[in-house]
Amino acid sequence: APAPLVDRFGRVHTDLRVSLTDRCNLRCTYCMPAEGLNWLPKAEVLTDDEIVRLVRIAVRDLGIRSVRLTGGEPLLRRGLPGLVARLAELGPELSLTTNGIGLARMAADLKAAGLHRVNVSLDTLRPDRYAEITRRDRIADVFAGMAAAQAAGLAPVKVNAVPVRGVNDDEILDLVEFAAGHGYRMRFIESMPLDAQGGWSRDRMITADELLEILGRRWELVPVGRHGNAPAEEFRIAGTDTVVGVIASVTRPFCGGCDRVRLTADGQLRNCLFATQESDLRALLRGGGEDAAIERAWRSTIARKGPGHDIGSADFVQPDRPMSAIGG
Ligand code: GTP
Ligand code: 5AD
Ligand code: SF4
Repeated sequence: APAPLVDRFGRVHTDLRVSLTDRCNLRCTYCMPAEGLNWLPKAEVLTDDEIVRLVRIAVRDLGIRSVRLTGGEPLLRRGLPGLVARLAELGPELSLTTNGIGLARMAADLKAAGLHRVNVSLDTLRPDRYAEITRRDRIADVFAGMAAAQAAGLAPVKVNAVPVRGVNDDEILDLVEFAAGHGYRMRFIESMPLDAQGGWSRDRMITADELLEILGRRWELVPVGRHGNAPAEEFRIAGTDTVVGVIASVTRPFCGGCDRVRLTADGQLRNCLFATQESDLRALLRGGGEDAAIERAWRSTIARKGPGHDIGSADFVQPDRPMSAIGG
């Protein structure tokens, strides 16, 4: 077995998130402006061969056991099932986080290629509101995508919603009932200061405490903890098998147990969502670096990892790239 990928706080990194593109076909208002962003030129984006090579090193030499494909919107990547098949061959648990647009068409191919699970983003059940939040009238595609993913066995389908005060916070119970009714797993995410516009406001974030209060008025919740180091704390609705997840990055940070490392679409390794430095693996790859050199760069990036983010403190600096360019 490879030596663990461990940092100076003893955290062992077994989870890799790989962003496949910084582009997106939605324009969620809390994420990016209506006109989109300056997308990476194609030449800067890692090729399939480059991604496969890095993931091979990660799994074989660094002890990475799960790989999550993210974006931007990862389904926009050309030839995605082919890339998934090559990554699946390397053996990690393989999952994907998507906005669900296009998933209906691709779910069966992704499953056949070896993908295990999908998480789908959906902040509202109302078509008009969905169009306001995402600036695109595509909610039917998302519903179809989730159904297709479940039918294909990409299960359990998890649904991610970011509740924002005055925008969709009146739909929290409806979202739980929707997910429970379809056999999906609902999760609520505290909004983080990672948008491209710098418009995050703590006051508009629905905190985990508020969320649990809202759920608790309707149902009795039984805490069931988290899976390993997963960001989501889970709660079961008493008397049912419905489980709701809460990802409270801001008010209940889970940095102390973080086991994640991130690779951006342009081949930069980040030891944290909120890292202010990146390590240029693409330059190593394209400069003829050997696997051992890439492994060393990877280990030293993790060795530099800080204790965690300090959102809320006066010293907090938002990373210079938005979430859509980092990978969620
Ligand atoms: P599961 O393995 O299904 O639990 O996936 P996940 O929750 O790790 O992945 P997903 O891509 O669905 O992420 C859901 C939310 O968790 C997103 O908003 C992420 O930005 C947030 N998240 C994921 N990893 C981290 C992390 O390392 N730090 C913080 N603060 N948030 C994270
Ligand atoms: N804070 C928290 N979650 C966010 N997402 C996008 N931007 C943010 C943010 N600033 C969510 C998406 C998706 C998940 C991958 O991350 O809505 O559900
Ligand atoms: Fe696209 Fe996700 Fe950003 Fe929405 S939050 S615009 S789906 S990258």
